Amino acid sequence: MKEGYDGGAMAESPLGQHLVKMIGNVCFSFFALSVLIFTVIAVTYQPADPWFDSTKALVSRSFSQTLSNSTFQTDTSLLTTAEDQAAAAPSADPTPPPPSATLLAGPNASSALLCDGGEGDLPFNCSHPGVLDAIRRSHAKNFKSLIFISYESPVAGSSPDRCEVAWWFRNRREKSWRRYRDYRWFVLTPGENCTFKVTNVGKYRSGGKAGGQNRRSKVAGGAAPNSSPLLKVADADINDTIPVVRSESEFKKGRYLYYSRGGDYCKGMNHFLWSFLCGLGEAQFLNRTFVMDLSICLSSSTNPNKKDEGKDFRLYFDFEHLKESASIVEEGEFLRDWKKWDQPSSGGKKQRRQSIAVRKVATYKVTPMQLKKDQSTILWRQFPGPEPENYWYRVCEGRAANFVHRPWQAIWKSKRLMNVVSQIAGKMDWNYDAVHVVRGEKAMNKELWPNLDGDTSPDALVDKLTKVIQPRRNLYIATNEPFYHYFDKLRSHFTVHLLDDFKDLWGNQSEWYNETRELSDGRPPEFDEHMRVAVDTEVLYRAKTRVETFNNLTRDCKNGINSC
Ligand SMILES: *[C@@H]1O[C@H](CO)[C@@H](O)[C@H](O)[C@H]1NC(C)=O
Ligand SMILES: *[C@@H]1O[C@H](CO)[C@@H](O)[C@H](O)[C@H]1NC(C)=O
Ligand SMILES: *[C@@H]1O[C@H](CO)[C@@H](O)[C@H](O)[C@H]1NC(C)=O
Ligand SMILES: *[C@@H]1O[C@H](CO)[C@@H](O)[C@H](O)[C@H]1NC(C)=O
Ligand SMILES: *[C@@H]1O[C@H](CO)[C@@H](O)[C@H](O)[C@H]1NC(C)=O
Ligand SMILES: *[C@@H]1O[C@H](CO)[C@@H](O)[C@H](O)[C@H]1NC(C)=O
Ligand SMILES: *[C@@H]1O[C@H](CO)[C@@H](O)[C@H](O)[C@H]1NC(C)=O
Ligand SMILES: *[C@@H]1O[C@H](CO)[C@@H](O)[C@H](O)[C@H]1NC(C)=O
Ligand SMILES: *[C@@H]1O[C@H](CO)[C@@H](O)[C@H](O)[C@H]1NC(C)=O
Repeated sequence: MKEGYDGGAMAESPLGQHLVKMIGNVCFSFFALSVLIFTVIAVTYQPADPWFDSTKALVSRSFSQTLSNSTFQTDTSLLTTAEDQAAAAPSADPTPPPPSATLLAGPNASSALLCDGGEGDLPFNCSHPGVLDAIRRSHAKNFKSLIFISYESPVAGSSPDRCEVAWWFRNRREKSWRRYRDYRWFVLTPGENCTFKVTNVGKYRSGGKAGGQNRRSKVAGGAAPNSSPLLKVADADINDTIPVVRSESEFKKGRYLYYSRGGDYCKGMNHFLWSFLCGLGEAQFLNRTFVMDLSICLSSSTNPNKKDEGKDFRLYFDFEHLKESASIVEEGEFLRDWKKWDQPSSGGKKQRRQSIAVRKVATYKVTPMQLKKDQSTILWRQFPGPEPENYWYRVCEGRAANFVHRPWQAIWKSKRLMNVVSQIAGKMDWNYDAVHVVRGEKAMNKELWPNLDGDTSPDALVDKLTKVIQPRRNLYIATNEPFYHYFDKLRSHFTVHLLDDFKDLWGNQSEWYNETRELSDGRPPEFDEHMRVAVDTEVLYRAKTRVETFNNLTRDCKNGINSC
């Protein structure tokens, strides 16, 4: 299950295969440019995806037309996501105050002298301000890509010259204000001019004494206090509870836009986002609250028959951020409230039915602009009919595209996934280079990508990468090549890392596992291909030197022959 980016098997299409392939590829790639989420998936279209097979040029055409008018113009960087997009913006970093800094600024070196009173003698006191100061200086030198938000108080380590400390940090690349936590041990010696000096540092999360301290305890209403030890280190920063409407009057004052499930259900990730953001965009245009179904179904890009139903939106995306960026209610909650407060208290059903005004909209041909004036409490869009008539995103096509803007900025990746990304980058000490190797279907398709297979062969990779990456560097390979040993030839030149090398991070002993179980109806959560792509993309994005397949490894065009 290493596949991820390139779509799966090219489904056998009865007619005009080449034409369909071509159109599909070109259009999908336009799409990819705009979607910017799970970008690496997006690089290739998902041919097995029925929406290309069944709807062919019609959908593709309107798709790309709409896209060209999309407000979300991407420039060049293919590997940017919505949260990273903000980061890529000019570095006018207006650094807002970090959330709940516990111990932000300590004294500086100058005020933390330790010459007086023999405090530098072993075992020294880890609470000495000079200790934290030395650690801070060491961080500034070693982790230029990180911003250290706050430190907790250092504690004594396992030997007299060791201290351990935990801290919160965030990544410069990420404009989200999400914080991540690390804790390590440090070996310190008295340095010059009455300061401490860090002479050795443990690996990512090596300071168990400092790390185990607080965590969940401060989370009200969260896990019970006697929960398992691992839950104690679970991320208390994640708050993706479902918002509740508290009262009948609050509910009735609201204005809602409710989309019934359409043909989008169980399609690819990009289709999901394209449609979901259309609905959310319409809700914003209408100044309404969008009723969203947190239970999503995604099809596999490699195996069209595999449909993952009942996946929680929060496994992939940051629901907390979505709640802050857009007005939404959860569907189950909404339907319950609706039913509860639409009950006739007495008398016939009919007369009280009026209490909550509902307008049903049975076709996407009724435009958002026509609904702008509607005062009904609930606008209920239904999507009957065959594909592609029943796709949500059709609402945003045509003239509507000039009015409805997809709120891309509302979509960030799940913090649960970003924690995995942080751990992977942390294990390589944020000091690694990465190569993105696109293979899969594209490499097999010699008509559209005549050189790709050869240019991404093990020998070609060795040849190319040894020219641009220093020997023995950490090299992370983001790829859809399923064969783990495919990259073995690179191992004699670099320290090679693949996503699967980190599978403990989502194994049944992991933080991720424990954190996501509650979202999986108690079933063991599966780290699926969409998550793999998300993580691979973000790890790639954090590399110091990044080598791309298109441009760097091969002269073939990303979208097939003659498309660039
Ligand atoms: C997109 O914009 C162009 C002009 O920039 C316009 O001609 C075209 O009709 C628009 N397409 C859609 C789908 O709105
Ligand atoms: C501490 O360092 C900051 C900048 O790193 C500086 O602005 C501040 O004046 C220093 N404080 C002392 C007491 O030296
Ligand atoms: C370390 O210093 C702190 C205050 O600076 C003090 O409260 C603590 O008792 C000291 N610990 C040891 C072991 O000396
Ligand atoms: C120690 O102080 C001296 C004189 O103030 C200075 O020249 C030297 O650079 C300092 N060393 C360090 C490591 O700060
Ligand atoms: C989570 O966020 C909701 C608001 O969205 C808030 O009411 C609730 O108190 C928060 N829970 C925690 C544990 O912070
Ligand atoms: C949007 O709705 C809110 C209340 O639901 C109202 O206060 C606000 O004025 C509306 N904004 C616009 C632009 O209609
Ligand atoms: C965890 O996974 C390992 C290997 O995949 C398996 O042997 C073990 O039984 C699993 N444990 C639990 C509690 O599921
Ligand atoms: C996850 O939770 C289970 C049960 O709550 C616990 O047994 C397990 O140890 C936890 N995982 C880890 C890595 O600790
Ligand atoms: C990859 O290609 C881009 C565009 O041609 C170039 O700017 C970049 O330096 C190349 N990267 C490497 C590592 O060669």
